[in-house]
Amino acid sequence: MCGIVGAVAERNVTPILLEGLRRLEYRGYDSAGIAVLDQDECINRVRRVGKVKELSDALQQNDIRGVLGVAHTRWATHGEPSEKNAHPHMCNKSVVIVHNGIIENHSVLREQQINEGFEFTSQTDTEVAVHQVEHYLKIEDDLLKAVRLAVADFEGAYALGVISKKENNRLVATRRGSPLVIGVGIGEYFIASDAAALLPVTRRFIYLEEGDIADIRTNALTIYNDKGDIVEREIKESELSADATSKGEYRHFMLKEIHEQPSCLIDILEGRFVNGQLLDSAFGIGIDGRSAVEILDQVKAVQIIACGTSYHAGLVARYWLEAIAGIPCRVEVASEYRYRKTVLMDDTLVVTISQSGETADTLAALREIKELTNLTLAVCNVPESSLVRESELKLMTRAGPEIGVASTKAFTTQLIALLMLVAALGKRRGLAADKIKTLFQQAQALPALIEQVLQNKADIDAWSEHFTDLDNAIFIGRGTLFPIALEGALKLKEISYIHADAYPAGELKHGPIALIDQDLPTIAIASMDGYEGKIKSNIQEILARGGKVYLFADERLDVSDLGENCYVMKVPAVDADLAPILFSIPMQLFSYFVALRKGTDVDQPRNLAKSVTVE
Ligand code: G6P
Repeated sequence: MCGIVGAVAERNVTPILLEGLRRLEYRGYDSAGIAVLDQDECINRVRRVGKVKELSDALQQNDIRGVLGVAHTRWATHGEPSEKNAHPHMCNKSVVIVHNGIIENHSVLREQQINEGFEFTSQTDTEVAVHQVEHYLKIEDDLLKAVRLAVADFEGAYALGVISKKENNRLVATRRGSPLVIGVGIGEYFIASDAAALLPVTRRFIYLEEGDIADIRTNALTIYNDKGDIVEREIKESELSADATSKGEYRHFMLKEIHEQPSCLIDILEGRFVNGQLLDSAFGIGIDGRSAVEILDQVKAVQIIACGTSYHAGLVARYWLEAIAGIPCRVEVASEYRYRKTVLMDDTLVVTISQSGETADTLAALREIKELTNLTLAVCNVPESSLVRESELKLMTRAGPEIGVASTKAFTTQLIALLMLVAALGKRRGLAADKIKTLFQQAQALPALIEQVLQNKADIDAWSEHFTDLDNAIFIGRGTLFPIALEGALKLKEISYIHADAYPAGELKHGPIALIDQDLPTIAIASMDGYEGKIKSNIQEILARGGKVYLFADERLDVSDLGENCYVMKVPAVDADLAPILFSIPMQLFSYFVALRKGTDVDQPRNLAKSVTVE
């Protein structure tokens, strides 16, 4: 994780770098720092523990200016969040580096550098990077060559921005395993971990490939590939507007993104579900030119790999793929899958799901699996991301930038995307065209139902008051609503710091029910999916043991027999297949309001980052 930004221009770059950091803060907010080269060719560096706001306050006291600079917002990996460990890191007050990633062989390099006489001022892995560049500068006296030689010594992942006090019009940038874009201005260039960071200054972007090194000056840009050859990389025009990343009228990004879901669900189907038919063109074209039709025709099983909220989307898809499309499906978290010895059945489509498309574990799992198969599909929200670029097929979720660390609209759009996959594979196994048509007509009705749930915000908020002093909660669901219970529990943990576990309701009796007492509330979710009688029995079992239950239930469910310790909130009637999407909304609102009442930092909860580009 971490966010990096850099600029070489003919104007003062400090405000551009600061704004870039604000926009990258979702990637980490343990510390922030900036270094610029002033007109006397002195490097001025300011670093602060905490958020970018601390840094910008410090810069009010100490206005540093310059036409060349780099900046960083950190999610700590090696070394606690402290000023000394904050980036940019510097060597001999001459070379400056910002880094996103992990240099895995940092201990070996550190030892060599200590023997060579380099002094260390931090506990970070990054500091070896700056010393290694300085080491080669002594030999080569050229920043580009020194960076190229240095990165050849690194194992691990990196996106780097490097400047030197000896070269006042040169920024060297390189990436391997961590994302980096170049923003193209008029007579100026920028780098950043993502394009949104640079939207106030440009809409034209170059996405660096693995191993690329860019030599950037105000009036020239040269990109070399990992073999050292000069390469042309396409300039892409971004469709994002600078305010796509602002909160608008909302108090938090999370609330804004929850409210965007009705329109996101309309956008994702646009041009893909036409005249009652789902078009295979939604899946793009294979890297090797094979059509989606040809690839999907070959598929006999599905393996889903993802992390966090995206993993929960995968769990819902497993129920759908087996029940609706009749195709075997396995789902696993990427951090396990990538290191496990696995057996891949022939003709298995490997589906990675990721909002960012840069999650290190998911990306590594994809790269491992590409050794075995080229049947890969990325379900992703960021078209230019590594996951999308490296997958054979891609299904974009079109949710727009998601800034709140807790994922909301990215999740529900992933579910719709996965439903498209279910239909595409199902129709190849005899799933009736009528069933597909009905499924997507019902999906098209979801935005209106979501609006109804959003109108019940005040009721959900009233429930949240019961949770502000609690430390624990249990979530239960059955069928496709079990993953939604998992997602509800994750949301509550992430932003309100309440410990929450989720169970398939039928599993309670095998252990967790021992925890039930009047101080441990259970949040239950029930749709009319054929399991409603079963989950009602599970709720009765909790009530019989003195537990309290908060039930989100399809409005058609008869709850008259559940008694006063079961609080019920009605959710609009929805088809059982679509229920996981609709029931996600009250889960999101519930955790949001609990967090709000607890006064936590909803959009940037402690210890987390949105895009986890390290292991
Ligand atoms: C982080 C975020 C989660 C997200 C997960 C996977 O842990 O905090 O909200 O679900 O990464 O991210 P991805 O971008 O791969 O969906």
